Amino acid sequence: MRIAMIGTGYVGLVSGACFSDFGHQVVCLDKDAGKIAALENGVMPIYEPGLESLVAHNVRAGRLSFTTDLAEAVAGAEAVFIAVGTPSRRGDGHADLSYVHAAAKEIAGALTGPAVIITKSTVPVGTGDEVERIIFEAAPDAEVMVVSNPEFLREGAAITDFKRPDRIVIGIDDERARRVLEEIYRPLNLNTAPLLFTGRRTAELIKYTANAFLATKITFINEIADLCEVVGADVQQVSRGIGLDNRIGAKFLHAGPGYGGSCFPKDTLALLKTAEDEQVPLRIVEAVVKVNDARKRLMGRKVIRAMGGDVRGLTVAILGLTFKPNTDDMREAPALSIIQALQDEGAIIRAYDPEGVEQARAVLENVEFSPDPYAAAEGASAIVLVTEWDELRALDLKRMADILADPLFVDLRNVYSPDEARRAGLRYFGVGRPAPAD
Ligand SMILES: NC(=O)c1ccc[n+]([C@@H]2O[C@H](COP(=O)([O-])OP(=O)(O)OC[C@H]3O[C@@H](n4cnc5c(N)ncnc54)[C@H](O)[C@@H]3O)[C@@H](O)[C@H]2O)c1
Repeated sequence: MRIAMIGTGYVGLVSGACFSDFGHQVVCLDKDAGKIAALENGVMPIYEPGLESLVAHNVRAGRLSFTTDLAEAVAGAEAVFIAVGTPSRRGDGHADLSYVHAAAKEIAGALTGPAVIITKSTVPVGTGDEVERIIFEAAPDAEVMVVSNPEFLREGAAITDFKRPDRIVIGIDDERARRVLEEIYRPLNLNTAPLLFTGRRTAELIKYTANAFLATKITFINEIADLCEVVGADVQQVSRGIGLDNRIGAKFLHAGPGYGGSCFPKDTLALLKTAEDEQVPLRIVEAVVKVNDARKRLMGRKVIRAMGGDVRGLTVAILGLTFKPNTDDMREAPALSIIQALQDEGAIIRAYDPEGVEQARAVLENVEFSPDPYAAAEGASAIVLVTEWDELRALDLKRMADILADPLFVDLRNVYSPDEARRAGLRYFGVGRPAPAD
């Protein structure tokens, strides 16, 4: 199958590389010439475990190539995926569909034969109809079918998720496109990934519903964590106690500093906007968005409280900056709000992150970046674990206690047990765990 991938970001690049690994012939296109030039030189524009070797292998095999030339990418393609960004529109929170619409128009102008156009970007209900309209307006005689195929991969585990998905959702209103999608995903039959065929609008809504539900689960346990702190219960045990119930499930029940990233924040907002337009209130999702927004900043206040209330002139070491481990993505990372809240109160910030520093530099001001967690902690008045990278899971706590000016450890991911931290000589604050007795 000849596939064109329009947009070579986190989703487009991983999807394109995996499709080529299945044996398809894939051309990945991006408007960003720097990104394409880097990829042509074997340099990945993002950090994603396993991606570099997957790309290199398939480029060598002649199945994967990169271009900025749309005509070259689309000519002869039987399937054209749209994987461009759909960020929040400035000011109102609607999904900004300008990149999707522009891509549809450009594709229409470049088609040379019949093709299935597949929207992989996360788009509000009805976008497929608009993509179809744009294509037929620009190319009335085009032989195209427009399909929705939302992507569920997680950054940091994107390749495994793509190759071993729980399900593949395909929204098709025209049965002729089904054969093409079945052929594209046939290699996954071996992994028994179910192909769930639905109507196009249903597929579009499944993606938002899934993200809103997961965001709700996280926010729910975060509020229970707040209650745990006040009543002297431990949220880790509460999570385990409820997560072992199969009806609930253990995933997404880790209390922490609030969800961030490139998907949950913007997708929950966009879903609310759709609901608002349709005059169907989604009060639960509304509450989730409000609670989560407030929480990220409240985590900064939590650190300030643990430090005694006055942080002016004191140094705080932030360990982990990206919105989650194994990615360099800083979009909506809780670290941003936490650092801002601390800086607003006059704290000096030193930070360490294994992969996110380049992206973090672009969005943070007045932060000193350290080469390792111990350098960040040297002489600081607190360490704050914000992102649970593997290499931050086995810190030498005794060494930390020795080099800190004040041996205070705020663990916003509950990676460490309060007892081990206290044995090492640290004053330990987790999330949803009883505060230390002074
Ligand atoms: N990042 C994730 O984990 C994830 C997971 C599932 C779904 N999604 C969805 O997938 C979509 C893409 O997300 P992403 O994180 O990969 O975005 P991204 O910003 O990393 O990449 C988008 C790419 O599209 C390119 N682009 C924009 N317009 C273009 C055009 N007309 N022609 C060619 N290239 C164009 C941009 O230059 C950019 O490189 C979004 O809708 C997102 O919600 C993302």
